[in-house]
Amino acid sequence: MLYIGVDLGTSAVKLLLMDSGGKIVKIVSKEYALSFPHPGWSEQNPEDWYAQSIAGLKELLEGQDKSQVAGISFGGQMHGLVILDQKDEVIRPAILWNDGRTTLETDYLNSGIGKDVLEKYTANIAYAGFTAPKILWVKANEPENFARIEKIMLPKDYLAYRLSGTFATDYSDASGMLLLDVANKCWSKEMCEICSVSVDQLPKLFESYEKIGTLKKEIARELGVPENVVVAAGGGDNAASAVGTGTVGEGKCNISLGTSGTLFISSEHFVPTNGHTALHSFAHSDGHFHLMGCMLSAASCNKWWNEEILHTKDYAAEQAEITEEKLGENHVFYLPYLMGERSPLNDPLARGTFVGMTMDTTRSDMTQAVLEGVIFGLRDSLEVAKELGIHVEKSTIVGGGAKSPLWRKMAANILGIRLEFPASEEGPSMGGAMLAAVACGEFPDVQTACEKIVTITGYEDPDPVLTKKYEKRYQQFRKIYPALKEVFPQIQ
Ligand code: XUL
Repeated sequence: MLYIGVDLGTSAVKLLLMDSGGKIVKIVSKEYALSFPHPGWSEQNPEDWYAQSIAGLKELLEGQDKSQVAGISFGGQMHGLVILDQKDEVIRPAILWNDGRTTLETDYLNSGIGKDVLEKYTANIAYAGFTAPKILWVKANEPENFARIEKIMLPKDYLAYRLSGTFATDYSDASGMLLLDVANKCWSKEMCEICSVSVDQLPKLFESYEKIGTLKKEIARELGVPENVVVAAGGGDNAASAVGTGTVGEGKCNISLGTSGTLFISSEHFVPTNGHTALHSFAHSDGHFHLMGCMLSAASCNKWWNEEILHTKDYAAEQAEITEEKLGENHVFYLPYLMGERSPLNDPLARGTFVGMTMDTTRSDMTQAVLEGVIFGLRDSLEVAKELGIHVEKSTIVGGGAKSPLWRKMAANILGIRLEFPASEEGPSMGGAMLAAVACGEFPDVQTACEKIVTITGYEDPDPVLTKKYEKRYQQFRKIYPALKEVFPQIQ
């Protein structure tokens, strides 16, 4: 049998075809536009997701035995607000996970309603990128659009809806809406009331590995696959990526260096954050739970630095001068807050910053600072996990940034943990295909699928001398944001 995993990302949709044994048969990627209509805003057109996914599916299946396709599932960019009217038409462009427009609404939720109340209802507090503050933003700023809302959904759920006709979501992705009572896995009636929405406007909840339906007949015909292809709910991209890297069960960790940077810790039990709300307490795609720290700009900082500022796509050439002896010695620091920051700062107005240049600073010192600054940002989330009593000793690492051996080395030494490299770096799409296989009965559960499929092919251990150097620099990095915090709102 063949299973399709769809990673509905921020810059592209990645589609992966996996066989029954977990072998990757083919991967296809299709890009789409991302628009920033104002500084700090971030939007996409859901129709682009659908059109590029269909084009990608056709390319993926070209030359394959289509009769063997049994299931499809997803890992999707989280938190995005997609709203549909009575005719199932998209009302406005989707407001994405890294959009910072909801400062007022987030403040209202955290201060007006209160963080402790939000935590009681949902296990989390409000962050600008979460879905609930965006609903309040539409209500306040686009009342005519708000009045037309019939269905509220997340990005991958829009794709699943177009493919299957079922209005569904899964617990992992729903956790990031701030409308789900995570501990009890149901919609929070109180939060719905606070956001002026009704449960009828929200999708039906499923586990990520559950079947929500089958492909619509006309789509199955268009793709040339059987009519009974199972559509499984799928997960938020980080939960799906955790499945793809075997980060399931108790106390495992996965780091993703994608557009966003995340630290994901799996747990067999619901984890209350007890006021340490810098990490999110969400449901996992394996049926259990996880904690997660998310930085809004990770590999995207490197992309911005290389492509927008240095005007090059040759990232490796830019890194060539960052030799071994330069690690831990850079006097330039970079704050990676190009879209504000989520974990752990919760500050949509924070901004990207270079600090510490002198006349002898080189282009490669600044490239190095960008790479290091992203990992220092991830270390901030690791520190919060430590405060919660969670001691991470090793982690898998995936995402575009994990392809750079230099960046992986910096990460192992700044975080001070062993980093393992899974055979497949395709976290969310691999996880999506595995969730589809579980939904089709190929494996009895997600844990078993991980045991059978995921293999580790290499690792990077921290070097004690370098870790010590980086420790000193991390302590310096930590002082920069507090010193600038008051300035950022004044320079918008
Ligand atoms: C997680 C988050 C990001 C997006 C990226 O909370 O916002 O990782 O899911 O696609």
